[in-house]
Amino acid sequence: MVTERAASRTAVIVCQGRAVANGRLAPDRFADPTAMPLLRAEEQAQVHLVRREQPTSGASARLAYEMIRASGDIMVPRTVAIDDAVLAASAPQIVILGAGLDGRAWRLPLPDATFFEVDHPASQKDKQDRAESLDGNPPVYVPVDFARDVLTDALESAGHRANVPTVWVWEGVVPYLTRPEVTATVAAMAVRSASGSRLIVNYQAPSLLNDMIRKSMSAVFRKSGPWAGEPWRSAWSPAAMSRLLATHGFAVRDDNDLLTIATTLGVRLSQRSSLKNSRVAVAAR
Ligand SMILES: C[S@@+](CC[C@H](N)C(=O)[O-])C[C@H]1O[C@@H](n2cnc3c(N)ncnc32)[C@H](O)[C@@H]1O
Repeated sequence: MVTERAASRTAVIVCQGRAVANGRLAPDRFADPTAMPLLRAEEQAQVHLVRREQPTSGASARLAYEMIRASGDIMVPRTVAIDDAVLAASAPQIVILGAGLDGRAWRLPLPDATFFEVDHPASQKDKQDRAESLDGNPPVYVPVDFARDVLTDALESAGHRANVPTVWVWEGVVPYLTRPEVTATVAAMAVRSASGSRLIVNYQAPSLLNDMIRKSMSAVFRKSGPWAGEPWRSAWSPAAMSRLLATHGFAVRDDNDLLTIATTLGVRLSQRSSLKNSRVAVAAR
């Protein structure tokens, strides 16, 4: 939950990862020209260091360098898998949940689709400031705190239509929500999903090793680390995620880990454990 706090910092790191990867990793399959313009000058400077492979000294700066570099490796398979699923679905409405600094509304070649971006109000306000530099039509912004607000009402007020198909993109958000918040959000999506809708969800599978690494890094970099206010709250096995989605009328058609996807893309595999435990599922209704 990000209530009563500043804009998401993890959203910046994943955007920095896309900016690092753009034009460098799997350039025939991955591109995100919106990532760099969505970053502030000091965030762009960190990206340039990674792109030039110039590690900095000092523990905090080095941690930031390594996280941004790792983020680039993870973002490529994650973005490609989700983009492919969005384009294949070709629905008239696309709702991006916990959008952060996602640039899909500007960069995907879907001129007839209506994009909605749902995010915590603090993150969304920050995004709107940053997105002023982007050319093209902005999405419809829908401020929602998944821990407090009623997603169905917010979407209805924003002009989302429940009687035509929607593609839901839920990337990099599930780990930050509790199990009841995840369940409630799936239920809300189901209520507003006409037949032909797709739910594309990126989630973390349980991993003792990843949990331990994240907890110890959070303890060491308690104040300066990006996870300070954004701890992971839930992990789902593929079977548990499939059951949850089925309960709400979504049938899983594909569910792959990022390591498998990265292997098929031929990208560098320096984050094997993170890639192995991060998954993208596509479900149909
Ligand atoms: C790691 S970022 C991912 C951003 C984006 N989906 C991407 O992959 O680039 C996590 C996002 O989840 C959002 N988020 C986390 N908890 C939330 C909550 N309780 N309500 C609304 N948004 C939330 C944050 O604001 C942030 O934009």
